[in-house]
Amino acid sequence: FSAFLTDSFGRRHSYLRISLTEKCNLRCQYCMPEEGVKLTPRGQLLSTSEVLTLARLFVQEGVEKIRLTGGEPLIRPDVLDIIAELRKLEGLKTIAVTTNGMNLARLLPKLKESGLDLINISLDSLVPAKFEFIVRRKGFHKVMEGIDKAIEMGYNPVKVNCVVMRGLNEDELLDFVALTEKKPLEVRFIEYMPFDGNKWNFKKMVSYQEMLDRIRQQWPSLETLPSEHADTAKTFKVPGFKGRVGFITSMSDHFCGSCNRLRLTADGNLKVCLFGNSEVSLRDVLRSGASDEDLLQIIGAAVGRKKKQHAGMFNISQMKNRPMILIVMSYIHK
Ligand code: GTP
Ligand code: 5AD
Ligand code: SF4
Repeated sequence: FSAFLTDSFGRRHSYLRISLTEKCNLRCQYCMPEEGVKLTPRGQLLSTSEVLTLARLFVQEGVEKIRLTGGEPLIRPDVLDIIAELRKLEGLKTIAVTTNGMNLARLLPKLKESGLDLINISLDSLVPAKFEFIVRRKGFHKVMEGIDKAIEMGYNPVKVNCVVMRGLNEDELLDFVALTEKKPLEVRFIEYMPFDGNKWNFKKMVSYQEMLDRIRQQWPSLETLPSEHADTAKTFKVPGFKGRVGFITSMSDHFCGSCNRLRLTADGNLKVCLFGNSEVSLRDVLRSGASDEDLLQIIGAAVGRKKKQHAGMFNISQMKNRPMILIVMSYIHK
């Protein structure tokens, strides 16, 4: 495995998250401020060929999984071309997307044809009016249609991401669990994380332990499933249900020790940790006409500076980061 993608704690970074756009057709409260965010001028965003050049380099060094994120990745006009080109990269095993599901039903046949392997969909409420309150737009039924169609087309597991916020959707935990009875979904409850502009505070966060306790009250037979190395979620299953539930415990029990992720922002910065604010512009290096070797030196140095773990929930809530929409959900970690 490439030394450039191995950090000083021996973690191998075989998973790259590429943010394709800073734009989004929703305005989720936990992700961005109501007025939106100041967008990077177009010329400073990575072009299709720059995305592919960087992806090729990372895959050559050992990246096996690429997740396309945003903003909302499915609003980027060249998303199908990007997937089709990524598909040709030898060594890349998995191409995934994290989407809000708004355009999913419509695009699914083409996404599949282009070679998309896995889909994660954000859905924070099963009550249409509450959905609209959280995402500040209409579209609940479109998202549900996208989820059902993804299952129908054989995507497995389809993962549903639910950011749990106190006083907002915490009362829907059991309804989300019930969704896994008939549908082979993995519903993942995510601890609310602090990012610039999302008004996070400790009281709004519902911890993994609390969620698990509440679900266990209703479902004492909840089974623990084995977890895969470097997985963000701890997974469980109600015996007899088709699907399963997971918890992403970034705040109460971080999983930095097995982190295998790097992120590339839409404006071409390499972010070695979701909660780290030191970034390096690969776009600028690329545009200066640098060779692959030069790029690798810079990538290797950034990976080498990656910290052992994120600074802890109180510190990260105070630090300067990007709003989630600009990381994106290029997210996370450590
Ligand atoms: P899989 O590839 O299916 O494991 O997806 P994922 O969970 O890595 O990605 P997804 O885009 O579905 O994100 C789900 C949640 O996991 C989001 O709330 C992310 O913030 C969080 N997440 C993703 N990557 C990281 C990470 O590296 N660190 C932390 N702390 N959280 C992350
Ligand atoms: N806390 C936790 N998860 C978040 N996401 C976006 N913002 C936050 C936050 N503040 C999740 C979305 C999406 C995934 C990429 O990140 O639900 O599914
Ligand atoms: Fe858009 Fe996703 Fe942010 Fe919601 S969380 S505003 S869907 S990028």
